[in-house]
Amino acid sequence: MVDLLTVDHLGIGIPRGSNTVALVEDVSFTVRAGESYGIVGESGCGKSTTIRAIIRLLTGKARITRGAVRFDGVDLAQAKESALQSIRGAGIGMVFQDPLTALNPVLTVGRQIAEGLRYHGQLSAADRHARMLEAMRLVGLPDPARIAASYPHELSGGQRQRAAIAIALIASPRLLLADEPTTALDVTIQAQILRLLSDLRSRLGMALVLVTHDLGVVAQTCDRVAVMYSGRIVEEAPIRRIFENPRHPYTVALLNSIPRGSRAGHPLHPIAGMPPDPAHRPSGCSFAARCPNRQTDCEAVAPGWTPDAGGGGFACFHPARAHAEVPHG
Ligand SMILES: Nc1ncnc2c1ncn2[C@@H]1O[C@H](COP(=O)(O)OP(=O)(O)O)[C@@H](O)[C@H]1O
Ligand code: SF4
Ligand SMILES: [Mg+2]
Repeated sequence: MVDLLTVDHLGIGIPRGSNTVALVEDVSFTVRAGESYGIVGESGCGKSTTIRAIIRLLTGKARITRGAVRFDGVDLAQAKESALQSIRGAGIGMVFQDPLTALNPVLTVGRQIAEGLRYHGQLSAADRHARMLEAMRLVGLPDPARIAASYPHELSGGQRQRAAIAIALIASPRLLLADEPTTALDVTIQAQILRLLSDLRSRLGMALVLVTHDLGVVAQTCDRVAVMYSGRIVEEAPIRRIFENPRHPYTVALLNSIPRGSRAGHPLHPIAGMPPDPAHRPSGCSFAARCPNRQTDCEAVAPGWTPDAGGGGFACFHPARAHAEVPHG
């Protein structure tokens, strides 16, 4: 598979006084055409900031401070706003956590979906209308003509998220960025939306970057996953390796905190403590205060990246033991 998106030593900061606070310190990863890539970590680790930076939709005073974001030979970190506008939508679509904030309450759903075709070619009004109804069918919205004429508040939560996905897909992007797309929804609807995203990805041949705080969600949906902690990727691996052979103590802790079939009946183990405030990160490993494997050297300098034979790697001085490859029948 060819590389579609390369995030290369990306740093994102906000000014504070005469300094800059790094929200994201140094993040690198590559997404290949057609693959499903997960970014997982607790709230506050910098996941949203990272993917918003890809299409330069950072909030507040947050700015890219270093690094590159290459998509289709263009460095989006340096691109002009006019170039970004044509890449948003036709190149990269984005779905946010809360469909209500993504939708404009005073415009009909159909108008908002069709709006995504504004920058794309000389389509007639009739063609735009037909494409809009087709996108609504694609995301499984029932009775598209009626829903197109409705306002967001007239739809259920699941329908609104389907509409937000239709907005992201209308211009046929090659990459879909989805930031916690199911977190605001109830459990049954969550599963439907995840199935929809997986199904659309394979039918449309697009790549998907799925951001979530839930490793269970990436298990169902992703080929590879990056585990993010305190503004850095601390482990990356094909999804099977993450579950069978996690190396970073934070990944181990995340795995222990989720209910899985094999652990039914076992208590959940939420990770004690919180990720550090970006303005007050410790000088050594950011996970040190919460880490059961911590030793004195961990607090001196931040651990570098150790590549892994199966692709990916981890950043830790005293990782969990590597198991021999588990044979699969
Ligand atoms: N525009 C902003 N201004 C100030 N701080 C921000 C801004 N955006 C995010 N942050 C801070 O950056 C950190 C990472 O936030 P975020 O990327 O939203 O994490 P996640 O998506 O993993 O929950 C948090 O500490 C958050 O408070
Ligand atoms: S470097 Fe040390 S403190 Fe950090 S995760 Fe690894 S063992 Fe834990
Ligand atoms: Mg977030």
